This record gives sequence, C-alpha cells and structure tokens, in this order.
Amino acid sequence: MSLRTIHKFPDPILRLKAKKITEFDDSLQSLVSDMVETMYDAPGVGLAAPQIGESIQLIVVNISTEEDEQKSMAMINPEITFHEGTQVDEEGCLSVLDLTASVKRSQKITVTFLDLSGQEHELTTEDRFAVVLQHEIDHLNGILFIDHLSSLKRALYKKKIKKMLTSKTR
Ligand code: NI
Repeated sequence: MSLRTIHKFPDPILRLKAKKITEFDDSLQSLVSDMVETMYDAPGVGLAAPQIGESIQLIVVNISTEEDEQKSMAMINPEITFHEGTQVDEEGCLSVLDLTASVKRSQKITVTFLDLSGQEHELTTEDRFAVVLQHEIDHLNGILFIDHLSSLKRALYKKKIKKMLTSKTR
C-alpha cells in the first residue's frame, strides 16, 4: 500500500469522464488499497479514482462504525438508478481546498455497482451516506461539488484559487 497524491482543482483530470472498469485483477486490488489508505490519511469519507490521477470508474467510501473502525467499501462502475426527495447538507472535498458549502442532493438513492470480484450489487441508501455516494459518483463524471453552487459563489471561489496559485508561483 502507498499514499497517493490527491489532485486538486483546477487540475483537468478532475473534469474528465472516467472510463468503465472491465478488468478485475491484482492491480485493481492494489489501487483500491492505495485509495483506502489515502482516504484515511487525508482524512476523508470518500475518494474517487480521478482524485488520485486515475480516470476510471472506481470510488471508495468509509463505512466505519463505532464497533468496526476503518471499514471501507470499494464500488466499481457505480450508477444511480433511482433517486427520490431532496436534502441540503454541508459538503467539502479533498480536491477543493478551503471551501465547504451547502449542496442540494437527492434524499434517497439506489446505486448499482460491481465489487472487486466483478459481482454486481444494488444498494439503496438515504441521508448522509446518500450524499457521500452522490458526491463521489459525480467525480466519475467530471463534476465537483462547486458545480452545484450558485454561479456567483463558484466565481468567487475560482477567483480565490487563482489568486492563491499566482501568489505561489511568484
Ligand atoms: Ni470530492
């Protein structure tokens, strides 16, 4: 296992549509291990492969409970097949520095995905975990949570990042 670098906005890799995974081999397993380690180290509640520079349809999410610390789940080629209701909750992202904001999401979703052995699963969930999944699946489509904000908020954020980047390179 090794820690991977998390790519940050405005890195163009975060804007690509990630490729579907068709091979379920050892390299996929070791990529998942790296992502899990990187997620816990950050720390974050979820991580999508494009965030570590791999434009493929893979996410890992933290499903730890009090009894079961550091439990995670990998979801391959995840797809939201049903959504219902709305909820607004605070979000941040390991690839979007210095910003948290309220985002409107579906309250309840059903997701189909493959596990590491290529077996298909279906999961229905709601509330906070549904938010995490929608956020991570967005990453696979090149979408960041800032895209769900008003254009004014997004413009202010882009301006701030541009300023940060220019002052760094000077
Ligand atoms: Ni994110």
